[in-house]
Amino acid sequence: MPTNTWTPTSWRSKPISQVPAYPDSDKLRSAEAQIQKFPPLVFAGEARDLKHQLAEVARGDAFLLQGGDCAESFAEHGADHIRDFFRVFLQMAVVLTHGASKPVVKVGRIAGQFAKPRSSDTETIDGVTLPSYRGDIINDIAFTEASRIPDPERLLLAYRQSAATLNLLRAFASGGYADLTRVHEWTMGFMKDTSAYPRFEELAKKIDDAIDFMRALGLTPDNTPSLRETKFYTSHEALLLGYEEALTRRDSITGDYYATSGHMLWIGDRTRQPDGAHVEYFAGIKNPIGIKCGPSLSSDDLNRLLDKLNPLNEAGRITLIGRFGSDKVADHLPRLIETVQQGGRMVVWCSDPMHGNTVKASNGYKTRPFDRVLSEVKSFFDVHRSMGTYPGGIHIEMTGDDVTECTGGGVSAVTEADLSDRYHTYCDPRLNASQALELAFLVAEELRAQRPERSARVAFA
Ligand code: PEP
Ligand code: CO
Repeated sequence: MPTNTWTPTSWRSKPISQVPAYPDSDKLRSAEAQIQKFPPLVFAGEARDLKHQLAEVARGDAFLLQGGDCAESFAEHGADHIRDFFRVFLQMAVVLTHGASKPVVKVGRIAGQFAKPRSSDTETIDGVTLPSYRGDIINDIAFTEASRIPDPERLLLAYRQSAATLNLLRAFASGGYADLTRVHEWTMGFMKDTSAYPRFEELAKKIDDAIDFMRALGLTPDNTPSLRETKFYTSHEALLLGYEEALTRRDSITGDYYATSGHMLWIGDRTRQPDGAHVEYFAGIKNPIGIKCGPSLSSDDLNRLLDKLNPLNEAGRITLIGRFGSDKVADHLPRLIETVQQGGRMVVWCSDPMHGNTVKASNGYKTRPFDRVLSEVKSFFDVHRSMGTYPGGIHIEMTGDDVTECTGGGVSAVTEADLSDRYHTYCDPRLNASQALELAFLVAEELRAQRPERSARVAFA
C-alpha cells in the first residue's frame, strides 16, 4: 500500500536489483534533474482512461492487445519503423475485434521501452568479458569496453526519442491512418506471399461491406469518429527507476501521483520482489500496471504483491502477464488463478507467450520457435476455459519489419539457417509481421469459440 511515507523517491531506500553501474553519479543526478523539468509524455487523464478500458477487459467485455519491440533502439528510430509496426498492430487489432466481437484495447511496447533486465551482469565473447548491454537508455550494444559504460546522456536521448515516437503515433491514431476504410493499405508488400495474407484480405472485404452498409445508414468516417480513429496507448517495463522518478508527476485534478513516461508500466519478472525498490515505486503511482508472472512466482508472493499494489481491488489497475513457457502453463497458471479467485480479486489475465519460450538455435542465435509461442497461447485459453475465467489479452514482442528472429510460421517459415539473414533485434527475438498476424488469427479463433451462439445471444437480449 502507498504508506504515508511514499514519495517518488522512496524506492531509493529499498533493496534493488538490475542497477547499472554509472561511473559518474553527479552526471546521472544532473540528467535526472533535467528530465524532471521536461514536459510529461502522457497525462494522468489518459492513464485513467486506459485503466477504465482495462477494467472492461477484467470484466470480460474487451480484449487487450499489447506488443512491440523487446527493446527500442536509437539506431532503428525512424518513421518507417514506427509506421510498419503500427500497421501490423492495427491489422492484428482488426482481426481480434472481429473474432471477439468486443473492443480491443491497444497498448504498444513503444515510446519508452528501452531498459533491459539481464540475467548476467557480464557477457563473454571469444574470451573477452564486458558488462552486459542493458538497453539504449543505459549503454551501447557494440561489444567494446567504452560502449558498455553506462552513460547518463542516454536518458535524455531516450526521453526525446519517446516524445517523437509518441507524437507520430498520436498522429497516426487520430489523423486518418487508422481509418477503417483504409484497411487494405495496412498490408505491406512482403506480406502478400504469406499464409495470413488471403485471410486478412477476406476479412478486409467483410469490413468494406460493413462500412458500405453503415454508409447507407448514414454512418461515415466523417460523422463517426470510431470508424476514423482509434485510441492507442504506450507501455514499457519501468526498470530504470531514476528515469521513472524524474517523470513522476502529481495530477492537478486528483492530487495523485502518476508515471508520465507512458500510460501503462509493468514490473519485470526479475524485479518483482514484494519488498524491493521496484514494487515500492509502483505502489505509489496510479497508472494501470502489469506484473510479469514467471514460473518462480509463488502464490504467497502474488498475494503480497496484490495487497501492496492494489489494496482497494480496483478493476483495471492490475494486469497479470503470464510468461511460463509452453510446457509450463498448465503447472502454474491454474494455481495463480486459484490464488486470485480465493482473494476475490479483479485482474486482467494476459499471456506473454514469448519470454518462456526462448531457446538457443544450433548456430548460436537466440530464437523462439513459433509453434511454442502458439502452443503457450492455446494452453492459456484452455486453462481459462477449464477454470471458467476470462483470458483477457496477449502481450507479444513483434515488429512490422520482415525480420528472421523467431523460427517457423506460415508458408515462408523461418528456418534456423535463415536466422542470420535479418536478425535485427537489440535483445529478444520478435515475431515478424506475418507471424504476428498469424498469431492474431489463432487468438481470434479462440475468442470466436468463446462467443455465445447468436441464437443464445438473441434469446438473452
Ligand atoms: C521483457 O518483457 O522484455 C522481459 C524482459 O520480460 P520478463 O521480465 O518477463 O522476462
Ligand atoms: Co524481451
